[in-house]
Amino acid sequence: MCGIVGYTGPRDCLPILIGGLERLEYRGYDSAGVAVVTGDSPDDYSLEIRKEEGKLQGLKDLVEAQPVSGTFGIAHTRWATHGAPNQINAHPHTDETDHIALVHNGIIENCDALREMLKTKGHTFHTETDTEVLCHLVGEYWDGSLEKAVAAALRIVEGAYGIAVISDLDPGKIVGARKGSPLVVGVGDGEYFVASDVAAILSHTNQVIYLADEEMVVVTRRGFRTQTLNEIPIAKDVEEITWELSQAEKGGYEHFMLKEIFEQPRCIQNAIRGRLEDDGWRAHIGGLNISDEELARVERVVFLACGTSWHAAMIGEYMIEEYCRLPVEVEYASEFRYRDPVIDGKTLVLVISQSGETADTLAAMREAQRRGAMALGICNVVGSTIAREADGGMYIHAGPEIGVASTKAFTSQVATLAVLTLHLARIHGLSDEPARSLIHGLRRIPDQMEAILADASHCRVVAEKYAHHANCLYLGRGYNFPVALEGALKLKEISYVHAEGYPAAEMKHGPIALIDENMPVVFICTKDRAYDKIKSNMAEVKARSGRIIAVATEGDTHVEGIADDVFYIPQTIDALVPLLSVLPLQLYSYYVAVLRGCNVDQPRNLAKSVTVE
Ligand code: F6R
Repeated sequence: MCGIVGYTGPRDCLPILIGGLERLEYRGYDSAGVAVVTGDSPDDYSLEIRKEEGKLQGLKDLVEAQPVSGTFGIAHTRWATHGAPNQINAHPHTDETDHIALVHNGIIENCDALREMLKTKGHTFHTETDTEVLCHLVGEYWDGSLEKAVAAALRIVEGAYGIAVISDLDPGKIVGARKGSPLVVGVGDGEYFVASDVAAILSHTNQVIYLADEEMVVVTRRGFRTQTLNEIPIAKDVEEITWELSQAEKGGYEHFMLKEIFEQPRCIQNAIRGRLEDDGWRAHIGGLNISDEELARVERVVFLACGTSWHAAMIGEYMIEEYCRLPVEVEYASEFRYRDPVIDGKTLVLVISQSGETADTLAAMREAQRRGAMALGICNVVGSTIAREADGGMYIHAGPEIGVASTKAFTSQVATLAVLTLHLARIHGLSDEPARSLIHGLRRIPDQMEAILADASHCRVVAEKYAHHANCLYLGRGYNFPVALEGALKLKEISYVHAEGYPAAEMKHGPIALIDENMPVVFICTKDRAYDKIKSNMAEVKARSGRIIAVATEGDTHVEGIADDVFYIPQTIDALVPLLSVLPLQLYSYYVAVLRGCNVDQPRNLAKSVTVE
């Protein structure tokens, strides 16, 4: 949700900034811009801005036609909040004097009041953005030191921000700060970076520091220092990023989403590696930071998540109920944070987030912690805010997920939850046999996924038959109900086909009215404990001329007799079926979107990391 990158050092900053934006474009793609200070001496330093509406290519064309060159600068790719996604509202924004430029990720909540206050002091505004207000505020406090002006401005700002600020009056310096939106500092050899995400700077350095909320950093080519908004110095450890840049590249695939779908067998291996004990049928989880004794005292589990992560949480709910016999609730983080939830010291809160930065999920976790719960984070992005602020947790080890539609993170979350369930279940008295079959089942998943992916072309053939339909219903029961929700979400977000997921038996309480020969209905009817029931639901749709696409278990000829098209998946235990049944649905959505000419990796109006409410 908006991407920021900044550079100061001996090199020309423009290619570094544009290269960084290329890696951040998944965070927003409404418009993009750069601010560079040109000139070699204080007499001819000049702040130059280039910005353009639309995808990054527009900015690239602009800087080719109107080049800028300098050794420090900042850049931004935008996901609009305040103001339309046009050129004028694009970042960077400048202050009243045009000597300060600022890029911002987040929302300034008191921007209206600040704008009015600044107007009374003679400021004129040219855009509808909260960011322009923030930049003018920095200008208002300018007294010769950029960091002092930024700190003074941020002390009266309400809301969320990750920012980077430069000025031609304080050359060579970038001031960064964050609250609620991520910001990392890259430490190079005689050069320094700031960025929303390490992917933007990983080709230059793998040494980073993470800022915490309400912390600032001042970087020059000679070094960096960190401080609070009250200008109290704070020490930070430099951390090493262990993943490779190639993991954030398409590697020959047409889209990141397709690459990430195909990475899933390896991701599952990474999620379970070293975490399953074959002698004793237990899970071994390092870094959980909660003892067996504490887990034994847990009487209730609450999941907090949004979107696809929320669907993974639902699968976690079913697993924990089945194996641990504990009551579980799955909450939309956005609702939980504003309710008056009942949480106590015997409630274990599990917070699921791929990015580890989702604003609602983070706020909900903080609320749960404030009420005395122990919160465990299940995150993908290492060093992300939720991962750092949680009391403990597990990484899902999926590697960078760039496609806006989550695929490999979903299955990695489910696999990680299976491991966590096993751990909790053994502490709560699960016997050897179900534990053994869970472990065996998990170990087989990567090969079973490979078998499904080998038949991806069949998903394309089926997609060709249905891509022109404007609606689609997804139905599942038991463990496959969350998969129905996830299948529908995947289709709607990347192909703009209206799709809804329902528990299959709920169909006759309303949605059945939609069924006719123009309504494709995807049934996930694998051979599990809900199989016989869902077969009846399929017959009900067939009787009303609905078109049925089924996900079924290999060898199930009965389904072939009812459904118009079938995606087969290998047999596994009920709890692990979602890891397989979701794959054909991901591929189906992908191909429908491609056939409809949609931008699969950058669907309209969406952004990867939702760092605003
Ligand atoms: C859908 C999707 C979103 C995210 C949601 C939560 O494909 O990606 O629904 O799942 O925005 O994001 P995280 O998991 O980063 O908290």
